[in-house]
Amino acid sequence: MTAPARPRYVPPHPPRGPGPVPVWRGFFGERARTSVYGWSRQAFVQDHIRRNVLGWTVHVPLDPAAVQHVLLDNAANYAKPEPVKAILAPVIGRGLLTADGALWRDQRRIVAANFVPAAVEALVPSFARAAEAAAAAWPASGVVDMARAATETTLTVIADALFGGDPRLRTAEGMRHIEAALAGVSEARLPALLGLPVIGWNARIRAGQRGQAYLRETLSAVVRDRLPDGGGDDFLGRLVRMLRERFAPDEAFALAVDNAATFYLAGHETTANALSWALFLLAEQPDLQAEAAAEARAALAAGTDDPALPDRLPLLRAVIDETLRLYPPAPRFDRQALGPDRLGGREVAKGDIVSIWPWILHRHSALWDDPDAFDAHRFLPGAAAAERHRFQYLPFGAGPRVCVGARFAIVEALVILATWLARHHFSPLPGREVQVSGMVTLRPKGGLPLRVRNRENC
Ligand code: HEM
Repeated sequence: MTAPARPRYVPPHPPRGPGPVPVWRGFFGERARTSVYGWSRQAFVQDHIRRNVLGWTVHVPLDPAAVQHVLLDNAANYAKPEPVKAILAPVIGRGLLTADGALWRDQRRIVAANFVPAAVEALVPSFARAAEAAAAAWPASGVVDMARAATETTLTVIADALFGGDPRLRTAEGMRHIEAALAGVSEARLPALLGLPVIGWNARIRAGQRGQAYLRETLSAVVRDRLPDGGGDDFLGRLVRMLRERFAPDEAFALAVDNAATFYLAGHETTANALSWALFLLAEQPDLQAEAAAEARAALAAGTDDPALPDRLPLLRAVIDETLRLYPPAPRFDRQALGPDRLGGREVAKGDIVSIWPWILHRHSALWDDPDAFDAHRFLPGAAAAERHRFQYLPFGAGPRVCVGARFAIVEALVILATWLARHHFSPLPGREVQVSGMVTLRPKGGLPLRVRNRENC
């Protein structure tokens, strides 16, 4: 497929100064709230960054071969960092995302069957239903916060697809607590790095702790109601049954709640952010949006029951891939060296942190042509994918710990976007600037109000 030439479009990113910003500034102002803020121009041309952060040596490998070494070739030497576990433990405990070693392997085996392509494709109609239900509430023409709409829709999807549609997991109160819990996780970064307990010294931390407690209590109740046999043939039912086969009852219960929290959170927030960014980028590029909408209408004409629906949306798929390049919902993830190593000729000591930064890799000038410009053509079938190193594009990570929900997220995003674009037109609000925000995940700051019109009214 060849793409028509389009005007060059460079969507917004945080300002970049000429040289490195002192580490201490990362704990104040916008830099303390937005992880991708404050990188200098140098970061996007170097092949390795080494910094000292509050006594921790932190390496940021920016050569894809070095990234591959950490995530794949020598993955056994790199675990999830202790400070990251300390930050996330109150919410997701020792679930799949934070576990290491044998406990990680056991849990990965238990959940993997739920995410094989056939299992994901069977969910296409439910993805479309969630998208239609959300759109039914929009005015024929008016302003809708599409970040909120995306979050509500992906929360519905995850509650339906993994938790049997449990109504306790779809409430507005729950959404507020999730937001607060994630904000609290960001606030816990400083004490965790200093090895201090997280005490409620500001309102965001206290709201975060309330949010975390609400999530744990709600999910504990949901799991308890499913005992002893899982109470159904859905993700949660299978999880509970298989954990009880392998672990003592108390540990099985704790791990079931940890994984319920892991999948409930990891399974919707990231996809919601991907949807928001894709809608923003399409709203800014009306010709591209018109083309994607035409593709969506044609693909949906045969109905949503066809598991091959995602394959009929190559342009939209390329738009999503390019969106995930420019605004990776997980802009960084970390490892800690279990033993000494060498990374691109540099010494890594036992205990050092290695930070993988999709945000920088995806915009690195040695790896991409015109890196800050949006160009879906990069990802269209037949484009120069062969020239790309597998480890320069990492929206879902890579290696054994690659996102287990990657296929789920892509198919979900495709079906939701196609459903919305087929019937609705999205345009930006004049004069409103969009900025990136978020410490753990990357979202549009203050939501994403867009003007939405039924296509019949266009
Ligand atoms: C656009 C959406 C998504 C993005 C960008 C994303 C990104 C990521 C990334 C970067 C990792 C690797 C982290 C690391 O190596 O440290 C990861 C892991 C994970 N993701 Fe996703 N994710 C998305 C959607 C989902 C969905 C839909 C689910 C579940 C339904 C999910 C569940 C998980 C879990 C459980 C892990 C941990 C896997 C393991 O360690 O074995 N994610 N995700």
